[in-house]
Amino acid sequence: MIFAALVAGGHGTRMGGSLPKQLLPLGGKPVLFHTVEHFLRHPQIDGVVIGIAPDLYDQTHDLLARYCPQQPVYLVNGGSNRNDTIVRIIDYMVSSLSCTTDTLVLSHDAVRPFVTDRMIDDSIAAMCDSTVSVCTTAIPETDTVVCTHDTRTADSFPDRSTLYRIQTPQTFRISTFRQVYAALNEQQKAAATDVCSLFRQQGLPVRLVSGDRRNIKLTYPEDFRYAEYLLSTAEDEPIV
Ligand code: CTP
Repeated sequence: MIFAALVAGGHGTRMGGSLPKQLLPLGGKPVLFHTVEHFLRHPQIDGVVIGIAPDLYDQTHDLLARYCPQQPVYLVNGGSNRNDTIVRIIDYMVSSLSCTTDTLVLSHDAVRPFVTDRMIDDSIAAMCDSTVSVCTTAIPETDTVVCTHDTRTADSFPDRSTLYRIQTPQTFRISTFRQVYAALNEQQKAAATDVCSLFRQQGLPVRLVSGDRRNIKLTYPEDFRYAEYLLSTAEDEPIV
């Protein structure tokens, strides 16, 4: 089986406003449901589980009935951080949806509504290689990046050609995720901002698959204006 795990447990503090960004309207529909639809319509995806911030559970439950009636979309309470939300989603998949630990999970930020079929295809295909335990979408870095120890001093300039920017989906099997997570201490878990850094801390290789510049994470208010523009353009149209 192949499931999508949509993390929507945050509150979008950088976005501001009274409604968290995953529920803000984009083209007349909450962002979350643009993302859900991409996965739902993919022929290889069996279902979608959303980890939502607990205070948004009831509201999102009502929206589910409106935007995805009779669809295999499930809602669980998110956790205190992003990886904790993924743990809760996985626990639900096993306990309530009878997913086996062999189930493939595409974890994805609910606030990246421009995920494409091609990215989902490539992520699933990468996991067919038995040597791959986790893969992530990524795009080449375009800015010069600097390391600083004190926020004021530029210490080193890594070679840009070796730098990629991580996106989601990030894909793994439930069994491997659980093994990795159980082996880490609390400090290691806290240091990991995404699934791949959890795997990396256990020494496992992380496979990169091509992301897309359109696959933005809505973070700041201006990202919404760009998202409205992207929504008005075709998927294969060049970004100007
Ligand atoms: N997320 C989550 N559970 C948390 C925190 C974040 O599932 N406890 C999710 C967010 O809902 C979002 C994704 O992780 O879809 C990426 O996180 P980010 O963009 O940082 O979202 P927020 O935490 O909501 O934003 P901010 O940091 O501005 O508060």
